Amino acid sequence: MEKRNVPAHIGIIMDGNGRWAKQRNLPRSEGHKAGAQVFRRICDYADEIGIKNITFYAFSTENWRRPPEEVSALMDLFRDYLKEAQERQDENEEKGMHISFIGHREGMPEDIIELFDTTEKESRSANRINVNIAVNYGGRLEITDACRIIAQKVKNGEINPEDITEDDISANIYTAGQPDPDLIIRPSGEYRLSNFMIWQSAYSEFWFSDILWPDFTEKDLDRAIDDYNKRTRRFGGV
Ligand code: FPP
Repeated sequence: MEKRNVPAHIGIIMDGNGRWAKQRNLPRSEGHKAGAQVFRRICDYADEIGIKNITFYAFSTENWRRPPEEVSALMDLFRDYLKEAQERQDENEEKGMHISFIGHREGMPEDIIELFDTTEKESRSANRINVNIAVNYGGRLEITDACRIIAQKVKNGEINPEDITEDDISANIYTAGQPDPDLIIRPSGEYRLSNFMIWQSAYSEFWFSDILWPDFTEKDLDRAIDDYNKRTRRFGGV
């Protein structure tokens, strides 16, 4: 493979699990289960190839509208992963994986919130790769949250409204301190962001594909990165 720049941050919308299951006459939950395995593999591969930040869209604020059995199957998958992360704490530390959950804790089952907190705490010192998992996440909600924090600062007299800058928003979103995603990947033939990282993606490159997420492989990630490398990013300049 020719020399390439690895994006500093990749965002992935894990889509197509339901259709993958349907093609096989399986319940939708089986698609999510297969998707969760791919999530694990891609996480490890991203670390292997030197990606420093990666964000996976796992559950949106809108996903609560799905049938209760599907929501509950997804929550079980999160539980399994979180318990496994606890068991594999040493391995994760060795891999240097710093895991964060971005999104609203409120509304999530209590035991999962606890597991989120412990997993984050235990992986805090790891610094090879930041893995952000967006759960109960909405991009508009993220910006609204940032506005609330800044509004409170205005109310406290810490900042004047006219002094608020874009950097203040960036400093108060969930991924504060991490670079914006250079590349956003969406498989499954859909061409939209679906409220994912809408602030951070202002200058992101997009890579779309018809592959359904459970069929996504390390080679597809390589392909997306190779395509990204062929693009010229101008950030509004010439
Ligand atoms: C969208 O596909 C996918 C989701 C709403 C869930 C994604 C979650 C996972 C892959 C599990 C992740 C697990 C961990 C541990 C982080 P869809 O169901 O909308 O697919 P469809 O459009 O084909 O119906």
